Amino acid sequence: MNLGLKGRVAIVAAASSGLGKATAMELAAEGARVVINARREDELGGAADEIRSATGAEVLAIAGDVTSEDHIRKLVLETANNFGSVDILVANAGGPPAGFFDDFNAQDYRQAVELNLISTINLCREAVPHMRKRRWGRIVAITSIAAKQPVENLILSNTARAGVLGFMKSLSQQVAADGITANTVCPGYHLTERLKSLAPLSAKKEGISVEEVYARWAASTPMNRIGDPREFAAVVAFLCSERASYLTGDVIQVDGGAYRALY
Ligand SMILES: NC(=O)c1ccc[n+]([C@@H]2O[C@H](COP(=O)([O-])OP(=O)(O)OC[C@H]3O[C@@H](n4cnc5c(N)ncnc54)[C@H](OP(=O)(O)O)[C@@H]3O)[C@@H](O)[C@H]2O)c1
Repeated sequence: MNLGLKGRVAIVAAASSGLGKATAMELAAEGARVVINARREDELGGAADEIRSATGAEVLAIAGDVTSEDHIRKLVLETANNFGSVDILVANAGGPPAGFFDDFNAQDYRQAVELNLISTINLCREAVPHMRKRRWGRIVAITSIAAKQPVENLILSNTARAGVLGFMKSLSQQVAADGITANTVCPGYHLTERLKSLAPLSAKKEGISVEEVYARWAASTPMNRIGDPREFAAVVAFLCSERASYLTGDVIQVDGGAYRALY
């Protein structure tokens, strides 16, 4: 299948590692010009080099924090100035800290909402006018299975991400007539830096080994394994493609079957 991504301009936020980087790599491999973002400049530059040398694509790295409105304005403006348009937006960010109801105060919730919900809204607010100009656009928000099926020790994530589903559904209905699709993807466990940092914390809390934590995560999926970020990225690339032209307002789990409900 030709995804029709050649020459398209894609912004992938939070893309120096993990799911964001794998998504940027996949879009670049399909011929898109890619702008990647993350806070740490060195890691971001390294990811850009890696994507360029693996795919030959044009890659622009713009370092900054997606919780800063100024940075988001700059990210989108520099993309348009350098590449002439913004066709694709993959909204992504880091995850909030793990913990339970008794662990967090109101400020912790505000920060989680800023990180995962407000950043998505601001990225869309800046990118949509560019997409409307060309009457074509693809927006994909990366959230978590936690948005649909709360994860026991991730109360901040469970809370902040549910709002993303409401925002993305509303947005999809309000930009559909402009040729713009907006979908949400909910990853289950994938082997990324985030998972590698959560594993020892869970192991310590429960008095088990890190290997046992990984085994338990794998066993929580019917496929009995943790996903490869490339498997996730392939789904996002399809949603960003010309071929996904009649698919909008949807929420898709990429989780090895871990989500248990019908809808
Ligand atoms: N991996 C999984 O199993 C899994 C499952 C469900 C949901 N998720 C969610 O999916 C998202 C991506 O996770 P991941 O596993 O790919 O994480 P990761 O490997 O830790 O990568 C996170 C990326 O986001 C960047 N980042 C973090 N905070 C940022 C900020 N405020 N502004 C800009 N960039 C930022 C990081 O770079 P800097 O630190 O340099 O900014 C890094 O490039 C997270 O929200 C995570 O909670 C992951």
